[in-house]
Amino acid sequence: MSEQDTWKRAAAEAAIAEVQDGMTIGLGTGSTAKHFVDLLGARVAGGWQVRGVPTSEATAAQARGLGIPLPEFHEVDEIDVTVDGADEFDGELRLIKGGGGALLREKIIAGASRRMVVIADDSKEVETLGQFPLPIEVVPFGLPLTVTALSNACRFVLGREVELKLRQAEGKAFVTDGGHVIIDAHCGAIEQPEALAMALAGIPGVVDHGLFLGMAELVLVGGPEGVRRIGGMPARP
Ligand code: 5RP
Repeated sequence: MSEQDTWKRAAAEAAIAEVQDGMTIGLGTGSTAKHFVDLLGARVAGGWQVRGVPTSEATAAQARGLGIPLPEFHEVDEIDVTVDGADEFDGELRLIKGGGGALLREKIIAGASRRMVVIADDSKEVETLGQFPLPIEVVPFGLPLTVTALSNACRFVLGREVELKLRQAEGKAFVTDGGHVIIDAHCGAIEQPEALAMALAGIPGVVDHGLFLGMAELVLVGGPEGVRRIGGMPARP
């Protein structure tokens, strides 16, 4: 395990203290969330009765393999807490997510949860969001028109040209679990994430974007000094 991976693992271990037997738990996507799902699987093997709500097919497969019960989505009326990773977070607990392509389900599930707990290693902490390319999920129909509208919106809000790249995987356009494609917007510093979020959300053809604003309640950051808590209530003893 790399040093960075041990920090991700430590953040995931700290997140286990934020969940309890009997809860319905949103399960994030990505290498950090994968550690959390592993650890939750061990609790289930030890007798915990939780229900998992996965944010991607990859996480669903992992959770199923570990014996974590996964109700059908229509059977889920309440989610106690979602634990997920992030590509970037700032001091106001604003996030960029979607590096793994699961942003739509991640946002639906986090938005339906009482709490969102983010787990990350300290490389994800930034002063200003935007060094990580912002993923924007769009429908394939009319893609060039949507890209033009995205370019105009980014220029209007950020005051500069932004490079927009269609995400590729294995030589083809990457397709999300929802059948959409992703445009990665190389924004640079996003001084006003709320303004950009609003402009992007208003574009026909945009399904969602990777700015998660006002959603995370707690960030658990693993690093050389241990796990730091940003936001949230004090840890349970
Ligand atoms: C997937 C995500 C992930 O949470 C994000 O990409 C972080 O991944 P990792 O933990 O592998 O760094 O948003 O869509």
